[in-house]
Amino acid sequence: MANSRRNFIHKSLALGSMFPLFSMSQKRIQNFSFDSANKDEAYWRDVASLYRQNVDFINLESGYFSPSPESVKDYWINYVEEINESPSYYMRTKQTQMREKVRETLASYSGVSSEEICLTRNTTESMNIIIQGLKIGDDDEILRTNLEYPNIIQALDMREKRYGTKIRVVDVPIHPQDQNEIVEKVIGAVNDKTKVLLISHMVFLNGQVFPVKEVCTKAKEMGLITIVDGAHSFSHVDMDISEIGCDFYASSLHKWLGAPLGNGLLYVRKGIVEKLWPLYGDTQYEEDNIMKLEHLGTRPCSDQNGIIPAVEFNLKIGKKNKSKRLKFLQMRWADVLKDHKNIIINTPLGEGQSFGIANVGIKNIKPGDLADRLFDEYNIFTVPIDDDRGIRGLRVSPNLYSTVEDIDKFIDAMLKIAG
Ligand SMILES: Cc1ncc(COP(=O)(O)O)c(C=O)c1O
Repeated sequence: MANSRRNFIHKSLALGSMFPLFSMSQKRIQNFSFDSANKDEAYWRDVASLYRQNVDFINLESGYFSPSPESVKDYWINYVEEINESPSYYMRTKQTQMREKVRETLASYSGVSSEEICLTRNTTESMNIIIQGLKIGDDDEILRTNLEYPNIIQALDMREKRYGTKIRVVDVPIHPQDQNEIVEKVIGAVNDKTKVLLISHMVFLNGQVFPVKEVCTKAKEMGLITIVDGAHSFSHVDMDISEIGCDFYASSLHKWLGAPLGNGLLYVRKGIVEKLWPLYGDTQYEEDNIMKLEHLGTRPCSDQNGIIPAVEFNLKIGKKNKSKRLKFLQMRWADVLKDHKNIIINTPLGEGQSFGIANVGIKNIKPGDLADRLFDEYNIFTVPIDDDRGIRGLRVSPNLYSTVEDIDKFIDAMLKIAG
């Protein structure tokens, strides 16, 4: 059996085939009617069945990273086997061609060109390439919001220590009157020294969506460089990178795209690659070639190849449908819990202000204790957020594998605990 599989792989390598074995889950996904006009609960239950989950608990913590559907996992694991069986051969004869296919697939999905996409391992790496490498003047300042992710804050603070670049922070509310209030706060904080504006698309603490398109439009008019941290927004908010209008954008593809763990994306708008020093030394490529930023050395190509079926899966679901479904799951629980006297919602719930993720707390219960009770008593897994920026509660992030029954169990559990 193992022998015949090996023979097949050798044969397919010899024939130059880039495709691993055709698996059951790929067959299943091919037979699945993604186009069904009626996107009812039966349809979404079928979508959920394309994932394999631990049935011992309900996972409402997709924010860290999302599981890959089985079709993605099979494709990726087939490449693990293929590359392990023909290691240097794959690296020397197939690696580059396959990586360019990944880049083109991702670029097309993001609405940008493949010369604007650098493949990284995660948002942290992408943001470090930008933050550590950005060529700006000694007196130029970087402005960020108070709701940025710790790794990114540390990268900025290290730049300040190392190069003396001044980092300034603008406070933005978690319950703005409307999205325009955020635009006004951020743009209003720009001063004569501000050269760069760094903002999350979706806040990691509570899923709040910042109006990055409007902020970037205004910033561009003022001649600023814009960096968007899209760790949570890529393949979640229905907005292509090209629509945002930013200069730099970073994301983790193991989050909402559902690609294998350890995949990231860095977008650099055409014409500004020269503004970056590579993080990993490179003198081989021209200054304006994005490939100079990808000088990472030997890497797990099987993981990277898994981006292709992940994009295909998301395209089959449809970007709009996915965003809509995630918002629906959020509002199913938030609508019930939001008016309870002991429950606090730490996320703006308006249209476009959040999607699948929201943060919820119960008065007088520490987030850690609440998460423990949900898990111990109700088998529901969430993540407690106890942040001194004023967000205290559970970050709840269902995904396409979540069913309405999962959400209803969460609602029941919260109502029982809240009393
Ligand atoms: C807003 C934001 N930026 C950056 C990151 C870092 O992502 P990664 O650990 O995949 O690099 C996260 C992780 O959750 C995040 O939420």
